[in-house]
Amino acid sequence: MSTLNKKLEYGDYQTPLDFCEKIVDLVSKEISPDVIFEPTFGLGHFLDASIMKFKNIKKIIGNEINSEYYNNFMKNHTSSKIILFNENIFEFDHTKVANIVGNNDKLLILGNPPWVTNSKLMSQSLKNLPKKSNFKNFKGFDSMTGASNFDICEYIILDLLNNYKDKNTSLAMLCKTNVVTNIIKFIHKYNFKLKNIKMYLFDAKKIFNVDCEACLFLATIDKTGEDFVSVYNIENPNDLLYQFGWKNNTFLSKFKSLKYDIDGKFFTDWRQGIKHDCSKIMELSYLGNNHYTNKLHENFTLEDTYIYQLLKSSDLKANIITKNNKYVLVTQEYIRQDTSHIENDAPNTWNYLMKHKDSFDKRKSSIYKNCPPFSIFGIGEYSFCKYKIAISGFYKIPNFVLVDSEKKAIMLDDTCYFIGFTNKIYAYITMVLLNSDIVKNFLSSIAFLDKKRPYTKDILMRIDIKKLVNLIDYKSFLDLSKKYNDYIKVDEAIYKKYQSIF
Ligand SMILES: C[S@@+](CC[C@H](N)C(=O)[O-])C[C@H]1O[C@@H](n2cnc3c(N)ncnc32)[C@H](O)[C@@H]1O
Repeated sequence: MSTLNKKLEYGDYQTPLDFCEKIVDLVSKEISPDVIFEPTFGLGHFLDASIMKFKNIKKIIGNEINSEYYNNFMKNHTSSKIILFNENIFEFDHTKVANIVGNNDKLLILGNPPWVTNSKLMSQSLKNLPKKSNFKNFKGFDSMTGASNFDICEYIILDLLNNYKDKNTSLAMLCKTNVVTNIIKFIHKYNFKLKNIKMYLFDAKKIFNVDCEACLFLATIDKTGEDFVSVYNIENPNDLLYQFGWKNNTFLSKFKSLKYDIDGKFFTDWRQGIKHDCSKIMELSYLGNNHYTNKLHENFTLEDTYIYQLLKSSDLKANIITKNNKYVLVTQEYIRQDTSHIENDAPNTWNYLMKHKDSFDKRKSSIYKNCPPFSIFGIGEYSFCKYKIAISGFYKIPNFVLVDSEKKAIMLDDTCYFIGFTNKIYAYITMVLLNSDIVKNFLSSIAFLDKKRPYTKDILMRIDIKKLVNLIDYKSFLDLSKKYNDYIKVDEAIYKKYQSIF
């Protein structure tokens, strides 16, 4: 196995000693442990920092799968206070540690488990994963794995909390922030409860040279339990930045008193745009006179029957878009539609598709299996609406765009979410309302901006247009509309009619 794959498989990013010292120092202000357990100690920097800090500690226990790391640390640490294991944490018998921790002892689980997702490991046929059977025995894991993709680190943390829930246990672990978000999201389903849940954000690029949002996750097992997190920056550990978690049965990304409540259900389904997994062939540029060029720089003469203008996330910057210079072949009007009719309807297009059939057949995703040739997904009646409101799932600040197609509908790709309209005025009113501060404030309190895709269907579906439109009277609407130079003049009767629809 290559060194790179090994590093990936075992999440082998050792925490620098000075950073471990900083963490241990911070943790020591809240917890004075009798026993420390580092489940994946690697070079042992967390153990060394703990030995230095907690002079009166009874026992320091470490485990590490890598024999070289284990032997090295073992060689240099002979104190009887230190107990080390060279085992796979997924198969570790935790009674060995639990038996060392006395009834009145405070146990601190400390460290930095590997940060890698199961799907990443599986895609590379790497095996450092928990056994499936373990998942099912663990109350709460079903819901977590329901998402099918999970972080190994999340598994390890949950497994540890579960194993040491009957001790006086605190946990201080480095992880991605979304691991903490996931744990708190499902906290009511687990058979342990936590209190003093804190997240100290740090710069993962500086410490590990990785691009992600990371934190020190701190929490203590407790009988009553809390379901929210207090967030700090590690450089300023006394200044509370914000809190997130559960409030009044709602999971919020940020607690703040929202002046206006628009939480509810959107009036129609937000859709993702077209998915084809064949951009080299399907996405085209127009050269004029029915000549197109694809991403392989091949030129073709194609009928315009199946060609539509295309918008991607990166195009959704303005508020009103009427055209774009990207094009896409739309081979179906609905999912699994037979495509053979294209041969008669548009022979050049059919020949073009047939010439590249290999590229379509090579598409890895199982969704294309047993589908007609050249199939696409994210397509339906809604795709052909001439008026749409679209948003990129990736931007941190939400921007709703009115897509106003003059002739043929403009399509969106699967990085965008949209809703379709047949009525241009209603589409415009909806765009103006969705870009109001009321919606922006609401979204910022429910979306997790550290996610790669902060705005998902789940998030967008929570905007209640009925509540929103009743908060914005006609005069306020006209004020908002000025930002778009009154792109469409909306008179009071139309606005009232719009208000009455919901
Ligand atoms: C992110 S590194 C952190 C090491 C150490 N905790 C630190 O903070 O410096 C993750 C460590 O987990 C170890 N590891 C990975 N998979 C493991 C497993 N299944 N059982 C035990 N240790 C494992 C790796 O060898 C590596 O040393």
